[in-house]
Amino acid sequence: MAEVIIVDDADAAGQVAAGLIALELDRHPALVLGVATGSTPNSTYRALAERRPDLSQLTAFALDEYVGLEPRHPQSYAEVLRREFGEPLGVPASRIRLPGQGVAPVDAGAAYERAIVEAGGIDLQILGIGTDGHVGFNEPGSSLASLTRVKTLTEQTRADNARFFDSLDDVPLHCFTQGLGTIRRARALVLLAFGAEKAEAIAGAVEGPVSSSLPGSVIQLHPNVTVIVDEAAAGRLANGDYYRYAWQNRPEWAIDASL
Ligand code: PGA
Repeated sequence: MAEVIIVDDADAAGQVAAGLIALELDRHPALVLGVATGSTPNSTYRALAERRPDLSQLTAFALDEYVGLEPRHPQSYAEVLRREFGEPLGVPASRIRLPGQGVAPVDAGAAYERAIVEAGGIDLQILGIGTDGHVGFNEPGSSLASLTRVKTLTEQTRADNARFFDSLDDVPLHCFTQGLGTIRRARALVLLAFGAEKAEAIAGAVEGPVSSSLPGSVIQLHPNVTVIVDEAAAGRLANGDYYRYAWQNRPEWAIDASL
């Protein structure tokens, strides 16, 4: 079962997630970190930057990227990650890998899977979740065994992301995304979600049946998952009281991520 940590807000969640990453970095300075984009991971990146960790040996692998945007386009995930993650944390773009870089789209999936394996695999993958349960750009119906590939974005996801573009027409139709099978291969997963609009997706991911209809439920097939949510996103969890109780009463010798 995933460890579920319910905190007051996104900043508190960022502190806990940054604590987990810092612990991994202590053990393993050449950490391979899977990084997500969107608003969800930003408090984690900010909290990590405050700790001023030594990231000189870290390599980051993005969860996904649009197809067809120039790397310097302000909404390309290469640019978003440079702005939100690389710059504040001092990780140069050369150590932030994204699917589709320098290869034809048709070869991008296999090339990315190879690059992850050559880096030794992803140690810790940060994840957000969509209101429909998607993780990365794995929309409902994505195979639980899928690997990095090109996907067509749903109308809903394009509409959700249109706020970052001048118009809906400017939102790309296609994306590269790590697959759910790729995500399962990471050694540890940290899934973050905030706000009542994520409550149903979180309940489905943590407690619902494992199903490609709710891609986030793939976390139930993984042995090392930490879910960090605010009270609003925890609102539909049947076992919320137990998660609060377990977190408050965690054994002293257990990793204290909130240090
Ligand atoms: P958000 O997106 O972080 O902007 O809420 C998460 C997602 O859709 O995966």
